[in-house]
Amino acid sequence: MTASTLAQWMLQSNSTVILTGAGMSTESGIPDFRSRTGWWKNIDPRTVASVESLQQNYELFREFYQMRIKSLADCTPHRGHEILADWETRGLLKLVATQNVDRFHQQAGNKAVAELHGNIVTIRCQACGKPLPLGHFMDNAVCTYCKGKLRPNVVLFGETLPQEAWNRSLKEIQSADLVIVIGTSLEVYPVNQLPAMSKGKLVYINLDVAGNSQNFDLILQGTAGEVLAEVDKYL
Ligand code: OAD
Repeated sequence: MTASTLAQWMLQSNSTVILTGAGMSTESGIPDFRSRTGWWKNIDPRTVASVESLQQNYELFREFYQMRIKSLADCTPHRGHEILADWETRGLLKLVATQNVDRFHQQAGNKAVAELHGNIVTIRCQACGKPLPLGHFMDNAVCTYCKGKLRPNVVLFGETLPQEAWNRSLKEIQSADLVIVIGTSLEVYPVNQLPAMSKGKLVYINLDVAGNSQNFDLILQGTAGEVLAEVDKYL
């Protein structure tokens, strides 16, 4: 079974949902988390991306996210993102549920996007919850209203997922005919529970497919950009 099989399934499906992870954005130049060159190979996530790091090691926490936010400025969505946006416009997709925090799906043109892990391009105060401009966070400022610590609207280890994004993803995945999982190791709970909640066909597009233990109907090994372009040829 190949890319043409997936295209055929997409054309037959009344409701297709995409679930993406960091591997969707590596072709844009953004590292993933668990590959050889991923963030968590060099840095322990507990020291920079957890509730404890925000509370007890704020300067390092802030430095880590400032670095990630700055690096986004040099990167743009790639052909694979554009194909997903085009599929939504053509009525081939119901929702992109993403663990990515870069907003590249929206930049490429997708409108139906659920940000399961939040994003790093909007900021709020950890103490009072009010939204503040990104520039304040980048300038090491404190909250204008209460002098609290500023932070990106990203989900940290130790926090629950945004309820609306989770409920929407769950509902669409449960009723989908087809779920296409792209560029995620599926190691992180609770998002890794989502594919199994679908009664529809399950497809996995990933560079490394050896470690996956879920029950996929079709596995397409390769980069997201290449595989999506191949599938698109048949649509
Ligand atoms: P991972 O780094 O765990 O997994 C990325 C997967 O994408 C790996 O299996 C890679 O082999 C694959 N991959 C890399 N480049 C690819 C490409 N060009 N095309 C296709 N596949 C490719 O990243 P996630 O599964 O997204 O959480 O990680 C889940 C969460 O863990 C992240 O959202 C982040 C992290 O801690 C938060 O920030 C809250």
